[in-house]
Amino acid sequence: MRTHEQTVQSQFDPRAHAYLTSAVHAGGPDLQHARTLVSQAVPTAAQALDIGCGAGHLSFALAPYVGRMIALDPSPGMLGAAATAAAAKGLSQIETQQGNAESLPFTDSRFHLVCTRYSAHHWTRLEAAVREVARVLAPGGHALVIDTLGQDDPLVDTFLQSIELLRDASHVRNRSRAEWRSQLQSAGLIELDYAEWPTRLEFTSWVERMRIPADRAAVIRSLQEGAPQEVRQALQIEPDGSFTIRTGLFWLRKPA
Ligand SMILES: C[S@@+](CC[C@H](N)C(=O)[O-])C[C@H]1O[C@@H](n2cnc3c(N)ncnc32)[C@H](O)[C@@H]1O
Repeated sequence: MRTHEQTVQSQFDPRAHAYLTSAVHAGGPDLQHARTLVSQAVPTAAQALDIGCGAGHLSFALAPYVGRMIALDPSPGMLGAAATAAAAKGLSQIETQQGNAESLPFTDSRFHLVCTRYSAHHWTRLEAAVREVARVLAPGGHALVIDTLGQDDPLVDTFLQSIELLRDASHVRNRSRAEWRSQLQSAGLIELDYAEWPTRLEFTSWVERMRIPADRAAVIRSLQEGAPQEVRQALQIEPDGSFTIRTGLFWLRKPA
């Protein structure tokens, strides 16, 4: 029987290339917003950490504005893809390291910027991970959290989490904006900015990225077809199974 961490590795190690080339991950308005926030507020010599770097897209976007960026991930396959792509882009500020969010392998107050994108829905213990973010941030340092959001309506939320889990065994939970707010506030982080965008997930590439078997994809389609109107509307489910969720961005500061 596998642990969740082993499931994460077995899900992501063989799929690093798919994440490197995924349009949803390589672009998006959140990356441009993140660049603007970081370039305006973070010193150019800053020490930065990207938690759950995956194939490295957030690190690539922000590395030009900081002195050093540690790209952290539990998956050696993802770290290899991120390191190779960073070298090809000439981003020598990026260094990769294995680790996970719930127990960051760094001393207190080490970073001026801690960021994470599209990773937290895989974290088992959000409260511990957010506490770790606050611990490794220097006083006055900034945190940037980007993730797909859960839904406030329990009917829609249960449906969303179910199809996410069917597609990816390492999925834990898309947290709602309210859940995030409460965790971030409890860790003592001050919210400076919040932004939200629709994220359309094109069905074929969404399932192919995780290489799920055809019978599993059929179960997801069958759930979608039987979904009540409230769910279909909230997730904008299209005839081919493509659907739209929300991505949230929190920009925070640890008190000086
Ligand atoms: C979708 S990818 C990340 C995408 C990337 N940040 C980007 O901007 O394109 C999700 C990553 O989260 C990582 N992950 C899963 N559980 C984690 C944990 N507990 N701590 C840190 N990273 C984790 C996975 O290994 C995977 O590489």
